[in-house]
Amino acid sequence: MQTVGVIGAGQMGAGIAQVSAQAGYSVLLSDMDQARAEAGKAGIGKQLARAVEKEKISAADAEAALGRITPIGELAAMAPCALVIEAATEREAVKRTIFETVGKALGPDAILASNTSSIPITRLAQAAPDAARFMGVHFFNPVPVMGLIELIRGLATSDATVAAVEKFGESLGKRIVHANDAPGFIVNRVLMPMLNEACFALGEGVATIPDIDAACQLGLNHPMGPFALADFIGLDTCLEITRVLFEGTGDPKFRPAPVLVKYVEAGWYGRKTKRGFYDYSGPEPVPTR
Ligand code: 3HC
Repeated sequence: MQTVGVIGAGQMGAGIAQVSAQAGYSVLLSDMDQARAEAGKAGIGKQLARAVEKEKISAADAEAALGRITPIGELAAMAPCALVIEAATEREAVKRTIFETVGKALGPDAILASNTSSIPITRLAQAAPDAARFMGVHFFNPVPVMGLIELIRGLATSDATVAAVEKFGESLGKRIVHANDAPGFIVNRVLMPMLNEACFALGEGVATIPDIDAACQLGLNHPMGPFALADFIGLDTCLEITRVLFEGTGDPKFRPAPVLVKYVEAGWYGRKTKRGFYDYSGPEPVPTR
């Protein structure tokens, strides 16, 4: 596998492109247009420059990695890729259109993988050119820091596809875990109920946002408390995945907490809108209730 395609140059796509380029792959990075793909590459350049400043990588390695990333504006340009990873917006219709478009350009052996955090892989595979060469490859944010990839096979995914993507993931230095195509896979199945439960606890007046965060951060040795993490992931994303768990299992234990729903209805999505459980407009995050 020499050339890897990454569709979506946002936070996840840029992270996947960065680690792939650092592992020596040539990367074609696409977004809705050439300008957005270029902006994604520029962001990766900044991340790599920071890593050089911190003396984590050499300036020569950073320059070489960045040089291996080519921004593209048209999915047709993905033709040379042996593996294409889709990390576009988490909307099924958008992903389906992408698969249909890129599918026309890909070679007969190319593998198409989705970084979806919640959409069933078997269902998404219906829009891919070949369900046997389609699977889920779930990275974690921030991609260069997080050491895990979840691999999810759909009903029709072939063993050869799983083996090739596993080899690719390992070559990035990530630990691979295999999950069945069940709602939330592994990490979100476990994580989202915790974040949702923190919202129930807040709504019931058990404790304040900073106290619940401090309790989990210091009492469980988590890098961030649940509200800081939910803001980091995006409250809209957390609610969406919680709904997938609820609807996909039919189990009331996954019902979304009213507080979480309220924040999303208010458009308070977390860091990306500068306000969620904390307000990020000042020098330090301030709890919003
Ligand atoms: N890109 C690259 N590197 C980054 C980064 C980014 N966006 N953000 C932080 N880092 C690096 C820093 O450079 C630093 O590296 P160093 O220790 O080698 O110098 C290291 O991460 C620690 O960063 P900071 O000192 O700035 O800050 P923290 O110590 O507070 O760490 C954090 C930040 C890494 C985000 C840490 O708080 C953390 O691990 N939080 C939990 C993240 C998490 O749980 N992610 C999974 C979310 S779930 C998901 O993605 C699935 C989806 O489907 C919802």
